[in-house]
Amino acid sequence: MSRAVCPGSFDPVTNGHLDVIERTAGLFDEVVVAVGHNMAKNALFTPEERHAMLEEVCADLPNVAVSLFRGLLVEFCTERGIEVIVKGLRSAADFDYELQMAQMNRQLRGVDTVFLPTAPQWSYVSSSLVREVAGLDGDVAAFLPPVVAERTRGRVAERKGSQSP
Ligand code: PNS
Repeated sequence: MSRAVCPGSFDPVTNGHLDVIERTAGLFDEVVVAVGHNMAKNALFTPEERHAMLEEVCADLPNVAVSLFRGLLVEFCTERGIEVIVKGLRSAADFDYELQMAQMNRQLRGVDTVFLPTAPQWSYVSSSLVREVAGLDGDVAAFLPPVVAERTRGRVAERKGSQSP
């Protein structure tokens, strides 16, 4: 039984993430999408909200489960018998950052990382850019699964509402 993890912040999950998750589900028997619990100051969604959205958008992938994790990713992998971390790579900048993490994770616990090149149509899409565009009232529908786009619009509107004088 081959097991892989697709870890990330997923704030929010994008079409690029989903593409990597779907392709990973085709390569491994079981896939866990692991949502990091670290709360960045500018987070749009709580870890629980990100988890819930991922469960919805992965519902039609029978070998994919979604889980929250805290602490080291390699400890999460070791506890669950997961041998491989899968990461999408959009660019050389991603590679420089991801290579260092991959080497550290292998050194810490012998967990290897496999890189999947992001589908070209999503190579410029990131959660942070989506948050920025949505926060400035841009249309992010093309980059997100429909349910995520709707909740992103709702969350941005809520935040703006609570800031008005
Ligand atoms: O979507 P992101 O923000 O690139 O996800 C990064 C994430 C959550 C996968 C990464 O920060 C991570 O693995 N965090 C867990 C803590 C950890 O194991 N740190 C050591 C990495 S070598």
